[in-house]
Parts: sequence; structure tokens; C-alpha cells
Amino acid sequence: MSRVVLGIETSCDETSVAVLKDDKILSNIVSSQVEIHARFGGIVPEIASRNHLKNLPIVYRKALETAEVDPHDLDAVAVTQGPGLVGALLVGLSFAKGLSLSLDIPMVPVNHLQGHIYAAYLSHRDLTPPFIALIVSGGHTEIVLVRDGFKVLGKTLDDAAGEAFDKVARVLGLGYPGGPAIEKAALEGSDSKYDFPRALLSDENFNFSFSGLKTSVMYFIKKNPSCSISDVAASFQKAVVDVLVEKTLLAAEKYGIDRVVIAGGVAANTCLRRKMNDRAISKGLKLYVPPKNLCTDNAAMIARVGLEKLSEGNTASLEINAEPGLQF
Ligand code: KG4
Ligand code: ZN
Repeated sequence: MSRVVLGIETSCDETSVAVLKDDKILSNIVSSQVEIHARFGGIVPEIASRNHLKNLPIVYRKALETAEVDPHDLDAVAVTQGPGLVGALLVGLSFAKGLSLSLDIPMVPVNHLQGHIYAAYLSHRDLTPPFIALIVSGGHTEIVLVRDGFKVLGKTLDDAAGEAFDKVARVLGLGYPGGPAIEKAALEGSDSKYDFPRALLSDENFNFSFSGLKTSVMYFIKKNPSCSISDVAASFQKAVVDVLVEKTLLAAEKYGIDRVVIAGGVAANTCLRRKMNDRAISKGLKLYVPPKNLCTDNAAMIARVGLEKLSEGNTASLEINAEPGLQF
């Protein structure tokens, strides 16, 4: 039996609605608030909530129109419950509750991090557990073993990888969001020009730390104001990528897993995609990388988790609340 699921994502600064028919994406509309937050150099939570409130009904209508689906043909509404900004999450959750009630369809709450991993199921139909997933976003950096459920093997002890990109970009005067800006600047630079620290790289665990790297870049710029921004960007990017790749491969080796997924906004980084691919090949591992538009925040990945939970009968009552600190 075919099922049509609407997904809603409002955990951070993207307002997104998608329609999935089974695991086929009929629409995946993303309205970014990046330009609004860029002038503040980062996301302002209150402004994010207000813009979700304004944009969500428009994005919802566009998603249905593009999918050519009538709201009464929806079988369920899946919505990000957490982790994320509480006000932003509440906008999406309230909208989903309204749809659930008015259309008399079940509501499926979704963990945003699980959504990032499930983006890989949308792009790779042949993917099945067990696999190791590296989730790298603005708020999270985690290595997860996906086998019977989700086992977090390690995570960042301080800043997330995306956060480090955003903060370093700010110091370099490259603007927000930092990831794409650093990637672009790095194209003109040499990644071996400066040797920035690679924290915890040789430790036999799967935790990360990026705040020392960020501080090191900040001091370096202060001491060398006339240095090449491109060389710093390229060397910083290489330091982050080296740690992400080696720790992920170490996890695959230690747990005897031959499949690796990378997910989350930082997985849109070409340098990370390339290095992970080269190193995975050299180790005989199969790498699954979603296209860039499914790596950054989007509602199709949320609907994909919703589809699975719906088939398990895992729906929720309208009493549930947003969970800004939701974990696996
Ligand atoms: O997954 P995401 O869209 O939102 C969160 O759940 O956080 O990730 C956003 C993060 C930001 O920190 C952004 O700078 C980073 O992903 N990012 C990148 C790239 N594109 C987005 N980082 C490095 N290279 C990129 N191309
Ligand atoms: Zn995300």
C-alpha cells in the first residue's frame, strides 16, 4: 500500500516542507533565512521563530502544489520534535498538530539527527544497516553506529564542526554561513601552508574537539594580520576534515562495519566528501553521501523517518512538546 507523508522542518533557520510518496520525493521546498541572519553574523532565535511563522503556510502550500497532492490525500504529517531552537521547533510542531487535527491524520514526531542520517536512504535505495554515520552540522558532530537502533560512539566535547566553520569565517571576515564561505575562500589557498591543531586525532576514542582549533586560528590571525585569508581557510578546512575522516574510518574498523554514511550541513563540503571518498576506497569501505541539498536541513529527510515510524505504528498524541535537547 502506497503512503503519502508530509514532512515539516523548522529546527533552525530553514523553513522546509516536503511531500513523500513512499520513499520518492514529490516535493522538498526549503525557504532559507540565511540573508536575514547574515547581518547579525549568526542565527537570532527570536527572529528565526517569527520568520518560520510567516513562511511556513507559504512553504506548505508550495510543497503540496509542486507535489500535485491534495491535503486530504496525506496519510500522515511528520515533524521535527528536536533537537533545535525551542521557539523554532514550536512553530513547526504547532502547525503539524493543526494539520493532524483538521485532516484527521496521525502526527509523527521526528528526531532531527535521525532525519540527517535518513537523507542517505533517500539518495541510496540499496543502503541497509549496519553502517557508521558521521553527522556533522551546525549544532552536532557525532559518530553513530546504526545497527539495531542508534548507538552514539562519540561526539564533540565542545563546538560542533559547523560551528567552528561559522566562527572561523566570522574572524576571517567571510560572513555567515561560514561553511560555504570558507570552502570558497579555500579554493584559492594552500591547505598545507599552516599546520593547525588536530585535537584528539590519535586518541582511541570517537570524540571530537574543535574549540582549540578555532582559538588557534584566532590567535594566528591576530599575530599575523597580513596573512593570506585563503591559505588560513584552506589549512583550517583541512584540519577539520582530517579529524572527521580519520575518526569515522577508525570507528568503521573497530566495529567491523564496511558501510559509511556522511550527513548534515558540513557533509555538503566538497573537501570532506572528496577525502572521505578517497580514504574509504583505500580501506575497501562503501561510502554513501547524499546530494548537497539533502545534507543541509530539509523536510524530505524528516518525512523519510516519518514514513518508517508510520509503518511501525509509531505515531504521537497531540500532547507532545518540542524537545530542544533531544538525543538518540
Ligand atoms: O545541518 P545544517 O543545515 O543545520 C543544522 O542542523 O545545524 O548545518 C548547518 C551547518 C552550518 O554550520 C554551515 O556553516 C555548515 O553546516 N555548512 C558547511 C557547508 N555548507 C553548510 N560547512 C562546510 N562546508 C560547506 N559547504
Ligand atoms: Zn540539521
